[in-house]
Amino acid sequence: MARRSRLVGVGGFLPERIVTNVELASKLDTSDEWIRTRTGITCRHIAAPHDTATSMGAAAAARALSYAGLKASDIDAILVATATPDQAFPATAVRIQAELGMTSGFGYDISSACSGFVFALTTADSLIRSHQAQRVLVIGSEVYSRILDWSDRGTCVLFGDGAGAVILSASESNDGRGILTTHLHSDGQLRDLLYVDGAVGQPEKSGKLRMSGRDVFRHAVEKLSSSVDEALSSCHLTRENIDWLVPHQANIRIIERVAKKLSLPADRVVITVDRHANTSAASIPLALDEAIRDGRIREGELIIMEALGGGLTWGTVLMRL
Ligand code: COA
Repeated sequence: MARRSRLVGVGGFLPERIVTNVELASKLDTSDEWIRTRTGITCRHIAAPHDTATSMGAAAAARALSYAGLKASDIDAILVATATPDQAFPATAVRIQAELGMTSGFGYDISSACSGFVFALTTADSLIRSHQAQRVLVIGSEVYSRILDWSDRGTCVLFGDGAGAVILSASESNDGRGILTTHLHSDGQLRDLLYVDGAVGQPEKSGKLRMSGRDVFRHAVEKLSSSVDEALSSCHLTRENIDWLVPHQANIRIIERVAKKLSLPADRVVITVDRHANTSAASIPLALDEAIRDGRIREGELIIMEALGGGLTWGTVLMRL
C-alpha cells in the first residue's frame, strides 16, 4: 500500500489594504492599461506595518487548521516558504509554531523565492513518505512590499503581500488521492536575472528586488512547460488527465502559455494574479484556498501546480485532491 500525502486543509490571509494600478499610476510613471495588458494585474494587497510573514502565516495556518478540523497539537512539522522573514533567525516557522501554541514537533524555513511553496510541498511530502511526520503544515508567507524599490516601475507594480497555508496528512489508502509526484530544479548560473540586492550579510547593499523581466519571462515559459511535461510523463499521464492548473501567479501571459501547452481552457486554470499580483511563495496556496473553498476544485480531481522564481528555481507538483 502506498503512503501518500493528502491535502486536508487550506487557508489564506490577505492584508486589508488594496492598492489599485490607478493609485500606483498617481505616484509612478505607469498606467493601469500598461500593467493590465502586460501582466493581468489590476490590484494587490499591501501589508500594514503590523503585518509580517509570521503574523500573516499564522493567520493562514489557523484557517487551514480550522478547515481541516485539527488542532495545532495535531501537527508534527511546519515548513514556511518565505523570502521575507521577520528575522534572519529564528526561522519564521518556529515563530508561527509559538503563535499557534504548538509545544511539540519542529519547524524550519525554505528559501526558494517564488518557487518556495513547490519546494516546501515537496519537502513536506518527503517527510511524510519517510514516516518522519504524519501531518505537515506548509505555509507560503511574503511581504514583498518591504523589498521592492518603489521607484522602479519595472518591478514594483508586479508584486503584492499575503500568506497561504495547506495541511498535508499521511494516507495509507489505495484511492489514488494525494501527491503523486514532485519535480524540483535550480540553475544558479541564472541567479542574476531575479534577486534581492543585499541582506543581513551584506548590509551595505540596498536589499531591494532586481529583475531582468524579459529574460525571466522567457525562462518561465520554457522551463515551466518542460517541467509540466516531466511531471506528467513520470506518472504515465497525459495532459487530457489534468483537471486543474494551479500555477504560481506571476503574470497572466506566462500562465496562459503554460495552459495552452496543456490544452486547458481558461475555466480550468485558477487565476488570482488579477487581484493579488505576484505574492511569491504565497500565491499557489492562496489560489488553492480560493478554488477549494468556492467548490471549483473537487475531491478526486487532478491538479498540477508549477512555479518559477529567483535562483532560478522551478518545479512542479502533481496532486489528486
Ligand atoms: N509602466 C509603464 N512602462 C513600463 C513599466 C511600467 N510599470 N515597466 C516597464 N515599462 C517600460 C519599459 O521601461 C520599456 O520601455 P522602453 O521600451 O522605452 O525601454 C517598456 O515598458 C517595455 O518594457 P519590457 O520590459 O520590454 O516589457 P515586457 O513586455 O517584457 O513586460 C514585464 C515587462 C516585467 C511585465 C514582463 O517582462 C514580465 O512579466 N516578466 C516576467 C516577470 C516575472 O514574472 N517575474 C517574477 C517571476 S517569479
